[in-house]
Amino acid sequence: MPKITRRRLLLTGAGAVIILGGGWGLTREPKQARAPWRQASDGFGDPRLDVLAYAILAPNPHNMQPWRIRLNGDDSFTVFCDLNRMLPETDPPNRQITIGFGCFLELVRQAAAEKGFSTEIEYFPEGEPFPLLDQRPIAHVKLIEDMPAREPLFSEVLSRHTNRLVFDTAQTPSGDVLAAITSVASPSVFSGASSDSQLVQNLRDLTVDAWRVEWATPRTRRESIEVTRIGKSEINEKPYGLALAGALMDALKTVGLLTTEKMDEAGTTAYQQGQLFYEKACETAMAYAWIKTAANTRRDQLETGRAWVRMQLAATGRNLAFHPLSQALQEFPEMHEHYQRVHTLLGASDGETVQMLVRLGYAGAIPPAPREPLTSKLIEG
Ligand SMILES: Cc1cc2nc3c(=O)[nH]c(=O)nc-3n(C[C@H](O)[C@H](O)[C@H](O)COP(=O)(O)O)c2cc1C
Repeated sequence: MPKITRRRLLLTGAGAVIILGGGWGLTREPKQARAPWRQASDGFGDPRLDVLAYAILAPNPHNMQPWRIRLNGDDSFTVFCDLNRMLPETDPPNRQITIGFGCFLELVRQAAAEKGFSTEIEYFPEGEPFPLLDQRPIAHVKLIEDMPAREPLFSEVLSRHTNRLVFDTAQTPSGDVLAAITSVASPSVFSGASSDSQLVQNLRDLTVDAWRVEWATPRTRRESIEVTRIGKSEINEKPYGLALAGALMDALKTVGLLTTEKMDEAGTTAYQQGQLFYEKACETAMAYAWIKTAANTRRDQLETGRAWVRMQLAATGRNLAFHPLSQALQEFPEMHEHYQRVHTLLGASDGETVQMLVRLGYAGAIPPAPREPLTSKLIEG
């Protein structure tokens, strides 16, 4: 392995880091943290585990993977929320975390159908937790071996990834593609999508403004930074949270230019780059999709998640990059103005809640986000 000194990196700049040698670069991918994506199609000797191996690949806020599963008897399981995996600053009412469980349950259903089982899913069997999630179950799931129709979207599960790259500003998704994405959402939510240039510009401005608020507010910025893992070893060690992977990230960390402390310190390059990378991404949105619900019950949030992942799988099947931008939808006081703005822009009438906003466009491929092993998600009792 070539020796990388702080001095050499500082002298030659970040660009040179990439040239430091393929051998070093190739070994910087956190392979272990991505293993659950490769292992999902392995047999686990129990259909519930075979199904759950796919469900843990569901999109979820900050990749906190808050699911805990208790197997019951030989055909059922109960899903709980790990209350240590919440995001109280950016998600004070646990709305986004609940949406993530909706994504999870939809993948349970799809994977079960693939394996010949239909599912009986009972939401909140001991009552809807309000104002916050608690130790009561999110859902009870029973598998029934009756060979239901398979779900066509399932073929995209292993290719679905949140794409935060800048999008190609020369390519706009067609009306047909947008219609195909909204058409797979369930009737229990209102889904929409548009590439109208005025709306796109308004939403670009809004999402940049909202992001600046989240980044400039110390406690919300810190909440993300505290679960940011930089470089291969840290990502493999803690395969949940936000991952900055790859040779460049590892090298910048090695020389002390990119650390979580620096990211949290206004005026440093790490702080500025943290802000800019997301801004640049927001500015290249070529279309948007969204989900609204008439009310905002826990059930609405689960239904949102189910529709969300279906829309993302439909986008994946059409090579469309899909990047949720949730900042303006967040319920902390400093965001209030942008929360109102997004509801107005998307025509949410009184009482309706915008649950999801996603930028769409065409972009390069990205690797899978880390996942904790399925076995670490099983609980006894
Ligand atoms: C409710 C919800 C809100 C999310 N909001 C954002 C967001 O604002 N910005 C973002 O970059 N990703 C967002 N994501 C995507 C997650 O960060 C992503 O699913 C997670 O890191 C796992 O990565 P993966 O989707 O590639 O598997 C959100 C996901 C969910 C379910």
